Amino acid sequence: KRPAGAPDKDLARKVTKVGIIGAGLMASQFAILFVRRLQVPVVITDLDQARVDKGLGYIRDEIGTLEQKGRIDADEANRLRALVTGTTDKADFADCDWVIEAVFEDLAVKQQVFAEVEPFLSETAVIATNTSSLSVEQIGAKLAHPERVVGFHFFNPVAVMPLLEIVKAPATDDETLATAFAVAAKLKKSAVLTADAPGFVVNRLLAKVMGEAARAVDEGTPVPVVEKALAPIGLPMGPFELIDLVGWAVAAHVQDTMVREFPERFYSSENLHALAKLGGPVVEKDKHGKVTDLS
Ligand code: CAA
Repeated sequence: KRPAGAPDKDLARKVTKVGIIGAGLMASQFAILFVRRLQVPVVITDLDQARVDKGLGYIRDEIGTLEQKGRIDADEANRLRALVTGTTDKADFADCDWVIEAVFEDLAVKQQVFAEVEPFLSETAVIATNTSSLSVEQIGAKLAHPERVVGFHFFNPVAVMPLLEIVKAPATDDETLATAFAVAAKLKKSAVLTADAPGFVVNRLLAKVMGEAARAVDEGTPVPVVEKALAPIGLPMGPFELIDLVGWAVAAHVQDTMVREFPERFYSSENLHALAKLGGPVVEKDKHGKVTDLS
């Protein structure tokens, strides 16, 4: 069944090579998902070779974990590893028909990385942004072909969370949108089309929860109490554990965007921002990075 708002799937373009801008944790998780589900070459890039190598190391290790868990066999693991390459040369993106960024959550940075790569791409290559709250229209505004820019917003952990927000900017054309839905289906994600509005849908709601949780702590309620208070309404993790999962800097940026766009509706916690500047609080975690003690 065609998802609500998705154009005719016959308009979708074929994706034979994927380019990923960024080689951090999120970008590396994209690389694993794309190579596994699309079975096409995936190239990652970052500011320097050291960052690229770190990303490639993580990707190779995680493919090893998939093999250990029995999700893929040794031949598949080797094939997937061989399909993922790294580069610092944007010319290696020339034959990519799908490019996605997972760089710092800042409008100017996202505009710049796309402006740098666009001259190397074919006119029909899709340019997808994983922005969590910025305007997709503005991210594409300085490009020669903004009609092939689309929001493609994943959730942490990328491999596990089933949802994907596809964001249509006013300029996004039907071919781009159809390709985005086709790629989402191949990635086995459940895609929903959202308006190009601040925070889209999920982060607009999450920013409210996170902001009110931070406000409760600022008012004097201890963190563990706030964490436990939300369990009975069915959230799989408390708001601060969730902030830790998505990253304190990302959470602070989403909060900033929402406060900037809707100052009367969202709460900005100075404590949350101070912690984000420090890279988050020092908390005990198990070997999977799960917080064991937030007190
Ligand atoms: N990173 C990668 N994989 C992880 C992980 C992590 N941090 N945590 C768990 N997993 C994997 C495990 O390895 C396991 O995979 P396998 O099945 O392959 O073995 C799988 O997830 C299930 O793990 P658990 O049995 O430990 O599951 P759990 O019941 O503790 O659930 C959870 C873990 C899925 C993370 C769950 O707590 C959850 O859904 N939390 C809420 C997450 C959420 O709301 N994410 C959205 C954040 S907002 C965002 O990302 C958008 C943004 O722009 C900021």
